[in-house]
Amino acid sequence: MPDGLNHIAVLTSGGDSPGMNAAIRSVVRMAIFSGLKVTGVFHGYKGMIEDEMEELRLSSVGKIISTGGTFLKSSRSEAFRTPEGRRRAADILRARGIDAVVVIGGDGSMTGANLLSREHGVAVIGIPGTIDNDIYGTDYTIGFDTAVNVAMECIDKIRDTANSHDRLFMIEVMGRDTGHIALRTAVASGAVAVLMPEDPKPLSELYEHLTMLKRRKKSSSIVIVAEGSPHGSAYEVAEQLKAMNNEYDTRVTVLGHIQRGGSPTASDRILAAELGAFAVECLLSGKKGVMVGIINKKLVTTPIERAVNEQAGFNQELLRINTILSR
Ligand code: F6P
Repeated sequence: MPDGLNHIAVLTSGGDSPGMNAAIRSVVRMAIFSGLKVTGVFHGYKGMIEDEMEELRLSSVGKIISTGGTFLKSSRSEAFRTPEGRRRAADILRARGIDAVVVIGGDGSMTGANLLSREHGVAVIGIPGTIDNDIYGTDYTIGFDTAVNVAMECIDKIRDTANSHDRLFMIEVMGRDTGHIALRTAVASGAVAVLMPEDPKPLSELYEHLTMLKRRKKSSSIVIVAEGSPHGSAYEVAEQLKAMNNEYDTRVTVLGHIQRGGSPTASDRILAAELGAFAVECLLSGKKGVMVGIINKKLVTTPIERAVNEQAGFNQELLRINTILSR
């Protein structure tokens, strides 16, 4: 064990994602196994500033592997965005004798961890946990697979009613300003089109596609709209298509926060177990200021500075295949 590493803290921050609990469990159990004391920080960086913490034991993380959300709770802290807030957080960590912090969250949370490390020399390790899958340095983030599965299951249900009424459904999925959830959900649910920032086609293309499908007597269809679509929300897209004389009887469904909930899939639980344990092992081997991830099935680390400043790759090959399959 490196000198001066006896006590670590773990927190979840930003939008919660299914599998965060499994990640906390993994961090806590690997740390205790390795002889470290673990403190849980409640409500993310807000709780760090307000000293909302308690020691976690093996039993503290029992029975949480199958639950969505995060038992440590989460927040988007305005105070932590200020230099004074971060200074107070670093003072509290020092006063409590915490030697390193494991941060589970999305890009905003990694940005916070990076600042804490740069400005106050706090040893940090990031674990990517967000449904958006938009973080550089990992093929998958914890929660993405569950969100896609939840969206797919909802769309399977919507398809039943779409078929019965010969309707077109515009379904909006989350993803902030990226289309990772949108593309994967579209492929999994056999949508006829997907609108997302990474593939900014004119809306007239979708109109022509739908008109061609109507001529082919396709009675009902599903279109996926990423919340960050260049054509606006699913409601706005439906309005624009109506103005072009779209012939389909159209309805809109916004899936919203349903995608953030539910029991994590096996893939997300296993990813969380691997990344949580790896994060602690990185600290034990003297690493800090990095985010752990999985690339081509291998556990890797990326300097947290790069993770927050570079853009996650987009699956262009899946996009190409989907364009052909959705004709
Ligand atoms: O980052 C996760 C996410 O669910 C995004 O997909 C979405 O844009 C955002 O968070 C919603 O944030 P909030 O829960 O604060 O409304």
